Amino acid sequence: MNNAVFHRPQLAAEVVNLALGRNALGRAGAGVFLAGQRRIGKTTFLLQDLTPALQSEGVHVIYVDLWANKEVSPSELIANAIARDLAEAQGAVAKMAAAIKAVTIHGVSFDLQDVGRKAGASLADALKELQASLGKPIALIVDEAQHVAAEGKSMDVMFALKSARDTLNVDGKRKLLLIMSGSDRDKLLRLVNTPRAPFFGAQIHDLPALGREYSAHVAGRLVQAHPRLKISNEAMDAAFERFVRRPEPFEEAIGQAANPLAGPDADFHARLNFEADKYERKLDEEHEEVLEALSPLEAAVLRWVLEHGPGARLFTQNALTFYGQAVGRSVGAGSARDAVQALRNIEPPVLWKSDRGDYALENTDMLRWYRKRMDAGT
Ligand SMILES: Nc1ncnc2c1ncn2[C@@H]1O[C@H](COP(=O)(O)OP(=O)(O)OP(=O)(O)O)[C@@H](O)[C@H]1O
Ligand SMILES: [Mg+2]
Repeated sequence: MNNAVFHRPQLAAEVVNLALGRNALGRAGAGVFLAGQRRIGKTTFLLQDLTPALQSEGVHVIYVDLWANKEVSPSELIANAIARDLAEAQGAVAKMAAAIKAVTIHGVSFDLQDVGRKAGASLADALKELQASLGKPIALIVDEAQHVAAEGKSMDVMFALKSARDTLNVDGKRKLLLIMSGSDRDKLLRLVNTPRAPFFGAQIHDLPALGREYSAHVAGRLVQAHPRLKISNEAMDAAFERFVRRPEPFEEAIGQAANPLAGPDADFHARLNFEADKYERKLDEEHEEVLEALSPLEAAVLRWVLEHGPGARLFTQNALTFYGQAVGRSVGAGSARDAVQALRNIEPPVLWKSDRGDYALENTDMLRWYRKRMDAGT
């Protein structure tokens, strides 16, 4: 099957309303933060649904992916994207974007490379200039925004964006909309959850994974391509869930299972489930690898979380005793804290800490794996 995008206009409209402050309750003046697990379609949603929805409201959209180029620092990526659009807006007559090497900010010309680096041409200035020359609101979408939290210096760029937003959004008019997404809720939270964080007080929303409408849509396309297959929407959605609501492996497995050479049409769902088994085994191996790379104390902490579920308290006397028994020496709160920190910092992270201060698994599929292991007695 060709992978056509399943659009979510309703969800896009809700995010647009949030960004524009149309929801009476939302404090979106602070920016919209969207979190979602790996590979569930965050970027696709931002580019294919949210961007056109914002554009149809007359908003100029700048999209930056902080993972696009790991060689370039997040602050540079953001500065370059803004500077480029500014250069284009100013050089509309010259047309050739590639030929543009300098931008003019408040009447002073700056080398494109200097925006965001030199004190004279601040990001905030560039954004204000861009907004003025376009004459419409700007939405800056920062994908994988948590990467700024990894690098101390890059946090500065977030403060610059915040200050630009505060100066542009006066008199209740929203001229600069900040929309940030990320797959690491913990690191994303670091942008909003302490008084010293750039977007203190902003809320993080979970970007919903693709649901039944999507799996039913895929089923519909499948029936069109293979009219003889008997497909149950129920079973399709259950299978999609087993692929952790990731469209890519799900659609690939459907392609395998629907292949007329693979076996009788009547066994389509059995074959799809077989593909799901394979996928789960692959995930299991990934979890095993994560576990093997942990120190004994980190592994003990992980086990405690797996057994006590979300909201597990990690530094109680009981917990410390459990860690001590696991590693064969007494464990104090200090070294337990270090282990928790290590579990939050590894890539991809194992644990995340919510703004309420409790800890949860970053990859919720890990629990499925752990229960399976326990049932098998390993
Ligand atoms: N709405 C959709 N309809 C069909 N396929 C989709 C949809 N959303 C995502 N996909 C497919 O799923 C895969 C992952 O999508 P995408 O890159 O948008 O996810 P992501 O959450 O941004 O991933 P990452 O965590 O790597 O950043 C891609 O192959 C994409 O084509
Ligand atoms: Mg992405």
